[in-house]
Amino acid sequence: MEELHDSYLENAIGGTPLVPLTNLTNPSSGQVWLKIESGNPTGSYKDRMAYAVIRNAFARGDLKTGSRLVEYTGGSTGTSLAHIAARTGVKFIAVSSDAFAQSKIDSILAYGAEVILIPSENRKITPALISAMRERAYAISEEPDTYYADQFGSPDVIEGYEPMGQEIADQIGAEIDVFCAGVGTSGAFTGTAKGLHRAGFQPDLVALEPLQSPFLTTGEGGPHRVEGIGLGFVPPFLDRDQCSEIRTVDENEAMLMCRRLASEEGILCGPSTGLNVAAALAIAAERGPDSVVVTLGCDHGSKYFSSDEL
Ligand SMILES: Cc1ncc(COP(=O)(O)O)c(C=O)c1O
Repeated sequence: MEELHDSYLENAIGGTPLVPLTNLTNPSSGQVWLKIESGNPTGSYKDRMAYAVIRNAFARGDLKTGSRLVEYTGGSTGTSLAHIAARTGVKFIAVSSDAFAQSKIDSILAYGAEVILIPSENRKITPALISAMRERAYAISEEPDTYYADQFGSPDVIEGYEPMGQEIADQIGAEIDVFCAGVGTSGAFTGTAKGLHRAGFQPDLVALEPLQSPFLTTGEGGPHRVEGIGLGFVPPFLDRDQCSEIRTVDENEAMLMCRRLASEEGILCGPSTGLNVAAALAIAAERGPDSVVVTLGCDHGSKYFSSDEL
């Protein structure tokens, strides 16, 4: 059993800024605050969960230097796991697909990991594609000395995101009326909400999904372009009873919001952040000028330059 002591990772992950949007809001709407996570080492909030998953697996003796780690991932989680695996001498295998941004695949490879690509239909993210990726990762995890990171089930994921809620609580200096975010595994949404609750905040929780893959609101998923969310099954970490609402957002609105965030607020982010901000602005407009809405800036927009989306 090994304990990970990595002061670089301890210092580099988390502690990100919480920023009010000033140009996209108007006087009749509430405040919208964005937790900008692109400053993490690989440019996304997934670094928080990857470090917790690997650190805790080392502490339990499930993982050690030289052993193998596998996960199926659209890229952000894969990049984050590849980064921590490289720091800790673990061999990481990512099961991914050509439906996800090539720059994310390139980042995983750059950290020395192996990438297995499952072909997609017309580069669309579909429930069938996610199932095929999952099956392949499960099969590899059955091989000797191979640990399955389990981003869809490990309690370590929630532990990794809890500090994000605590940080928001420390930074905001006001009551929070609504916390909203898009859900893939729902690790970030649920872990952050848990951290907020621990810090004494009780905002209304609004989970978001793409209008083009409205699985949670209609029971039917579909192809869409918002990487990381809307996976076509119930997110394992999502507790619907905790949510005051589950809301759909049009992916075209999400893409437009990415461009507006960059040009009008100077914040370059990916499509899932655009979706989060589009919903947060709508909620702040509905709730009126005294309301405070917080959402997540999941990752950096430069990851998507190769995907034609931004
Ligand atoms: C870019 C991006 N945004 C949002 C999410 C959703 O995060 P979570 O899986 O914690 O719900 C992901 C997950 O992969 C992602 O990669």
